[in-house]
Amino acid sequence: MAVPPAVVVAGGAEFGGVWARLRYAVWLVEDAAELNRARWDELASLHGQDDYYDVEGFLAGQLMLARRERDETAAAVGSVAGLDLLHLQCHFGLGTLSWARLGARVTGLDFSPIAVERARSLAATAGIDAQFVQADAQRLPAPLAGSFDVVFASYGVLCWIADVHAWMAAAGAALRPGGVLVLVDGHPLTQMIDTVEPVRFDFPYQGGGAHRIRSTRSYASSATRLTATQTVQYPHGLGEIVTAAASAGLRVDALTEHLDADGPQGRGDQMRRGHDGRWRLILAGQPVPVEFSLRATRTTAAGPHETVSPADVPSRTSG
Ligand SMILES: C[S@@+](CC[C@H](N)C(=O)[O-])C[C@H]1O[C@@H](n2cnc3c(N)ncnc32)[C@H](O)[C@@H]1O
Repeated sequence: MAVPPAVVVAGGAEFGGVWARLRYAVWLVEDAAELNRARWDELASLHGQDDYYDVEGFLAGQLMLARRERDETAAAVGSVAGLDLLHLQCHFGLGTLSWARLGARVTGLDFSPIAVERARSLAATAGIDAQFVQADAQRLPAPLAGSFDVVFASYGVLCWIADVHAWMAAAGAALRPGGVLVLVDGHPLTQMIDTVEPVRFDFPYQGGGAHRIRSTRSYASSATRLTATQTVQYPHGLGEIVTAAASAGLRVDALTEHLDADGPQGRGDQMRRGHDGRWRLILAGQPVPVEFSLRATRTTAAGPHETVSPADVPSRTSG
């Protein structure tokens, strides 16, 4: 990952005055969201023509959920059958629709209109009842508030999020009291690593600052050359993530750091597959954490920082 830290959100004194700095910061945030949406629109239109996203296998009846995604959710709620599940940053819906196959009433949410359109079309083709909503995960539509037993998000989630407090507040606000957030994501330590031999870092561990990244490849296919080559990503350390969950009124039930993964998650050049079939990233002879999972419960009737916007929720797609 090449990460020239070219975007600095805190505007410098050279712009003069609080208002100028504020305008500069707002412009950067909007610019970042546009760059990221363009990238994800392009990826959403391409993904599924690769080995990573097995659409054919899904349409043949397979579940597209990693073992860890299912284990963590089972540890939180047991079976999802009959539960209302909100899948944040659902991409084009393979995971969301797999939860529906396991009996959940599902809503998938993504900020990419192409991803949402493809997810709806996939639901119709597969004959699965599901709702898909286009929205920013940091500002959920008001009708979603207090509606879910499970809020789920996985693999490639928080690095796209500028405001991790807003994300946690939105996730917490979507839960009913007693509902559970299940988050499985890349470990912030691994995200720092540019090369393993020699060990070189090119991304901070934490701090949430915006960092412009240029790349032409999709994690799902090294053969693909993308036209939307710039993105802006944000480092959030584990301490910041847990603190954001607590600030959102969530009770953290478990935070687990994992030394292995189901697959290389786009880091096939850095990770090694062991005899047990698990993938690890070895630095100086020791495996480092490659993923983390967080389970947290909404204990109160209302979160202290509910983050919702009044946009309407589209109707459910029936297959
Ligand atoms: C790496 S993908 C998630 C992967 C998913 N678990 C899968 O394997 O299909 C990240 C998703 O986050 C979405 N996304 C990024 N920033 C977002 C935001 N601020 N609000 C909502 N969705 C966002 C992207 O459109 C993309 O679909």
